Amino acid sequence: MKQTVKKIPMSELDALATSEELASHSSSNVSVTKTNRKASRNVTSSKAPAKSATAAKKATAAKKVARPRRVEHPLEHLIPAGWFAEDYIGRSFGVVEDKTVLSIARETKQNTLIFGPTGPGKTSLVYAYAAENNLPLYSVACNGALDPATLFGGWMPTETAGTLQWVDGPVTLLMRHGGVLYLDEINFLMGRVSAVLHPALDKRREIMLQEHNNEHVKAHDDFMVVGSYNPEYEDTRPLNKAFRNRFALRMHFDYLPAVEAELVTSPLLLQLATSLRARHAAGEIETPVSTNMLMECESFAADERLGSAFALSNFVQAFGVDEKSAVEEAINQMMPALGEEIEGWIIEEVDEEMDLDDDDDSEIGWADAEKEG
Ligand SMILES: Nc1ncnc2c1ncn2[C@@H]1O[C@H](COP(=O)(O)OP(=O)(O)O)[C@@H](O)[C@H]1O
Ligand SMILES: [Mg+2]
Repeated sequence: MKQTVKKIPMSELDALATSEELASHSSSNVSVTKTNRKASRNVTSSKAPAKSATAAKKATAAKKVARPRRVEHPLEHLIPAGWFAEDYIGRSFGVVEDKTVLSIARETKQNTLIFGPTGPGKTSLVYAYAAENNLPLYSVACNGALDPATLFGGWMPTETAGTLQWVDGPVTLLMRHGGVLYLDEINFLMGRVSAVLHPALDKRREIMLQEHNNEHVKAHDDFMVVGSYNPEYEDTRPLNKAFRNRFALRMHFDYLPAVEAELVTSPLLLQLATSLRARHAAGEIETPVSTNMLMECESFAADERLGSAFALSNFVQAFGVDEKSAVEEAINQMMPALGEEIEGWIIEEVDEEMDLDDDDDSEIGWADAEKEG
């Protein structure tokens, strides 16, 4: 029997939305023996197709998220673009969706804490929620270099020499006009900043601008605060108790197979993630495997200019020197199927005489690519 391996780029696979289209794309003597999961899933399921990293943007273009009619907002420039909402794959806590928790938080004027490891979509949720609701969002990367004046405002020189005028910082603006204040890695927030924020986070919902004649700024009804933190850093930097008590709603975000299955096409790559995460949990590997590492790996592999050899060696580079051999070993156990799957290869029977090995010479293994790189 003659077989050839035809590589169908991810972009084309995306276009094969139904099994009928898949069949018509292939010639009549072609049977798809190894196929992109997305295509096979469409054959058996009426559910929305899974998205590869590259596929996600195009596929979601069709999935328009209903957004309220846009009214010009004084902080228009801080409203995240619509694609944040369109690309986001939500999760539920029991029967409650993550975005519903944020809606309730806004309605009841409670603060929300999202905690979990790096990469399962904490920030993505907040951007998606703000985009969907046309809410301005300001994200504060909490660290020691934060200057309170850049958040709350300060006196700036005007065009008239020697005169100063007060200019609100983004947090003050959000409190005046409404919007989401996202405190990323809130456990690293400096005392100078948190002291000003405390009254904004309890029933008072206000801040006092000492520098601006002690002005009290009352929070707009749409002002809401969401904090995120990674419990893995809790030993080095615990979340201060005063803060913890001010966040009534808490969502634990971990890597979720159901969410990742929507974002990553290759089941073998997902399997690799599961096995590496088990090693992480056992303390053998320190670096966590985040959702976007998988998305990037698949997206690079599907890019014909890069391919699976590059994508996998690139994946390995995300790990520390003493972790790499364990990761390589896990990958090796899954090769070559993993490499083919993430590239979206399809084996096509064309005619009886061709030899599969013919064009193998040009192939280099993923580990070779790593050595060369
Ligand atoms: N639920 C999700 N929906 C869409 N993309 C996601 C989701 N979770 C993670 N991602 C992808 O992973 C990347 C990192 O996610 P992010 O929200 O920054 O994680 P975290 O804030 O938890 O560290 C995002 O840029 C996005 O590409
Ligand atoms: Mg984040």
